[in-house]
Amino acid sequence: MLTIGVYTSGGDAPGMNATVRAVVRMAHSHNANVIGIRSGYTGMIENDFVPLDLRSVANVIQRGGTFLKTGRCPEFLQPENRKIAFDNLVKAGINALVCIGGDGSFRGAHALNQEYKIPVIGVPGTIDNDIYGTDFTIGFDTAVNTALEAIDRIRDTATSHNRIFIVEVMGRDSGYLALDVGIAGGAQEIFIPEEINDINNCIQRLKDSIKNGKQYSIFVAAEGQKPGRAYDLCDAIKKKTGLDAKVCILGHIQRGGSPTARDRVIASALGAGAVDALLRGESDKMAGIRDGKLVLVPLADAISKRPPVRKDKILLARILSS
Ligand code: F6P
Repeated sequence: MLTIGVYTSGGDAPGMNATVRAVVRMAHSHNANVIGIRSGYTGMIENDFVPLDLRSVANVIQRGGTFLKTGRCPEFLQPENRKIAFDNLVKAGINALVCIGGDGSFRGAHALNQEYKIPVIGVPGTIDNDIYGTDFTIGFDTAVNTALEAIDRIRDTATSHNRIFIVEVMGRDSGYLALDVGIAGGAQEIFIPEEINDINNCIQRLKDSIKNGKQYSIFVAAEGQKPGRAYDLCDAIKKKTGLDAKVCILGHIQRGGSPTARDRVIASALGAGAVDALLRGESDKMAGIRDGKLVLVPLADAISKRPPVRKDKILLARILSS
């Protein structure tokens, strides 16, 4: 009898609940059991499990956050804690896992699979959209739209005052969110952790566009390793141009909220796809979406490779906002 342990791990992302729902409903439709593991790897180490029947996932498809809770668990990097976790899984009768999270979470799942041969399937859930092997991660679309709603409001006040705004979006290591928010939000400049966008050149372009009649401008910056770096950009702009510039840091607002239709559809397809993969004997893979089709990608690739960074989007934003 297949008993799947499902958990959400790392930063929460809108659509995680819809994914858990799909895992539970798909598993039950094939007479498999599901046990929820609370707070990701912490719950695995601390034996925090909850059986999930069909009704336990009623009324969650539209809810942001994750009712299973989540967290980052550095303790799981230690093999002795993975041993404790695996023993707890065995005691609970769990003989397969679905891990919903980002690359850090997949590293833990991959390690468990390698060490204890427990079948695992990963489902990409992160607002960052930075997982190799899938065109979309669950939560990305919602986060982009949340940030856009904010930018549209900022644009109103920016135009009223003829101001420059630097909007800081999330993304510690990756700028995929910033790139899409920047394009869709009509940003003039986009700053991402993967590529240096020289501030002096940006300022020169800003001055040129002002000469051409532009009265206000939106810059989008990913937070990178130092949340709040938008203030450094703002200071540089003010100092070098004498223009009025303001900062808006969107922060964790982007992680919350009801998932968009697109995120719910992806979550449903990938959650169900993960269970289907386990039933077919697949393991150590991630369920992803590529060119509109469900694909399975080795977890080893998902954690060691990066999707290509579309630096051309920075240029596109620049041209279209001139
Ligand atoms: O990985 C998702 C993410 O939201 C990143 O965009 C962000 O840099 C990071 O998590 C913030 O993590 P935390 O909520 O643990 O501060």
